[in-house]
Amino acid sequence: MDLEVLPAPALRARLKVPGDKALSHRASILLALSRKGGRIRGFSSAADALSTVGVLEALGAAVAREGGEVVLSGGGRESLRAPAGALDCGNSGSTLRMLAGVLAACPFEVTLTGDPSLRRRPMERVAVPLRAMGADISCEEGGRPPLTVKGGRLKGISWKSPVPSAQVKTAVLLAGLSAEGRTSVEETLPTRDHTERMLRFLGVEVGVADGTVSVQGGASWEGADLDIPGDPSSAAFLLCAAAGRPGSRILAEGVCLNPGRLGFLEVLRRMGACVRVRPMGTAGGEEVGDLEVEGGDLKGTCILPAEVPALIDELPALAVAACQARGETRVTGAGELRVKESDRIDTLVTGLRALGARIEGTADGFLVEGPARLRGAVVGSAGDHRIAMALAMAGTMAEGRTVVRGAECIGISFPEFSRILEGASR
Ligand code: S3P
Repeated sequence: MDLEVLPAPALRARLKVPGDKALSHRASILLALSRKGGRIRGFSSAADALSTVGVLEALGAAVAREGGEVVLSGGGRESLRAPAGALDCGNSGSTLRMLAGVLAACPFEVTLTGDPSLRRRPMERVAVPLRAMGADISCEEGGRPPLTVKGGRLKGISWKSPVPSAQVKTAVLLAGLSAEGRTSVEETLPTRDHTERMLRFLGVEVGVADGTVSVQGGASWEGADLDIPGDPSSAAFLLCAAAGRPGSRILAEGVCLNPGRLGFLEVLRRMGACVRVRPMGTAGGEEVGDLEVEGGDLKGTCILPAEVPALIDELPALAVAACQARGETRVTGAGELRVKESDRIDTLVTGLRALGARIEGTADGFLVEGPARLRGAVVGSAGDHRIAMALAMAGTMAEGRTVVRGAECIGISFPEFSRILEGASR
């Protein structure tokens, strides 16, 4: 599918983005593992979140979809059964990695696989700790999927994760909840703590001290109804593109305000944007509120390695803001971008250069020299939802028409994107 984008002198909208994808994965897994289940309101419309629900169903979990709600009947890990064939996680690294943690404690053999992009992504980062807990896990050469997990009785471990990754932390904690003894995960840099918050909300004890998170094996929880706030990573595309354009104003209502997700706002502020965060309440252990960005003149900045985990998914959107900023924007310590849905350093550089941006890739980041006069072009999505959306947002700043080829991948995280972008373009 081609997405045609026309220049928009300003972006103005009050928007309600769909439910958070990261929270939707966790909510469906934790309710499937609960005794009585619960109802998830505002479940993400992202294809990735539906991959998690589909895999849980294939494992025998009782799931009903009612409009934007997903109802799980629970039954605990003991109710999961060996599926008929390999489990297809689609494009979703979260689905594969988090469920590997669940399946490590299940007494049967399962193969987890996915689309060609997912089959290129590194899985040893979850396989190594899960093996240390007692699971038998094999992957393809280079630690890539398909991943075959033969689960069973696990023992708790103390794991120091070499990569700062909330998916790895979640996989190990999910396994630890069924292991003998206590399991702890030490992080080199803090990552989003959605799993910890949701577990606590469900009444499960989670220890947090000195950058180490721990859970006790043999935990059991009843379940509850969960409300999912809007996805800040989806809102980020419009917020970042509005930041550098005087006359623009984007208000995203009711989004998740987890600090592990809002690093991009701090960067926009540093670049000189007018950013407002209005906390409104809580849902499922997370703070929820409105985000607002008004356009102004931006200047370049340096994004440091310690900031990266809290904005890793927003770097493509920030690169677009950097194209409008005066001077150099430099991103370092973001080598993880190379193992996302595409090599996001290469795909960003290729796409933005085709639109006239001055951007250069480095081993662990990129440099953008702004401001650049962008001109419309035909660009490819590289099959990566966040690259497709970043290029579309850059297209709104370009002269002439931009076409993003292969834009159907946007449905992986934000199926409503083109409708919302059209409504915001003035
Ligand atoms: C996620 C964690 C991050 C992020 C991904 C979702 C999560 O991945 O990029 O989109 O929900 O835990 P890593 O854990 O690989 O850093």
